[in-house]
Amino acid sequence: MTSAVPVICVDGPSGAGKGTLSQHLASALSWHLLDSGALYRVVGYACRQANVALDDETAVAQMARALNVEFQPGEKGVTVWLSAQDVTAGIRSEAGGRDASRVAALPRVRAALLLRQQELARTPGLIADGRDMGTVVFPDAPLKIFLTASAEARAERRFHQLQGMGESVSLARLLDDIQERDARDEARAVSPLVPAEDAVVIDSTTLSADEVAQAVRELADGRNLLSDASE
Ligand code: C5P
Repeated sequence: MTSAVPVICVDGPSGAGKGTLSQHLASALSWHLLDSGALYRVVGYACRQANVALDDETAVAQMARALNVEFQPGEKGVTVWLSAQDVTAGIRSEAGGRDASRVAALPRVRAALLLRQQELARTPGLIADGRDMGTVVFPDAPLKIFLTASAEARAERRFHQLQGMGESVSLARLLDDIQERDARDEARAVSPLVPAEDAVVIDSTTLSADEVAQAVRELADGRNLLSDASE
């Protein structure tokens, strides 16, 4: 699938700063944004609401295919609608992340979401945030970033993020969760969490969000993606 629309893939484990980087790039470049993790989160959420067991692959894949989801960008971030329901806060909880990781391990669920994700590559460009953007969804993308950081740094960032959302959690529990989720994402048979062969790996453990964004903009500029997009 070669696309004339430039796509920048931002893959990596939970808490490495992909969301912050992707939102920054999408708004700075005025490109579209695909938050693929949110899609898996919404699938998990919809299954819970409909009492569909998260390991019933056929039923979960059917939910994924029928999903009526909309992402509405606004000043305070993106609002996520499931049919007419605002599920933004609901899908962002720790439990929502765990459910997402379970449904994301099911091959037929991933297949059901593939085209939906690819269709979001529209002019002037797309920032695709996820785990398999560079390996599976947009294998021909001209720039693939694999953003990582130590598990401890990621747990700490998540801790502060959740505190800001008013959710009280323990740092030790978060570290356990992150390690468990990493292990599941890396070990699954379909679309495991691995850098694409042609990805640029950036370790953000000791970098600020601004430093990461600057490094990626330089890479994009070096590949003439920014001028292509504005033509
Ligand atoms: O990125 P986020 O934390 O919202 O993703 C939630 C979960 O969805 C991840 O832990 C991962 O299991 C799954 N996911 C995935 N492939 C993607 C995006 C997310 O498997 N492209």
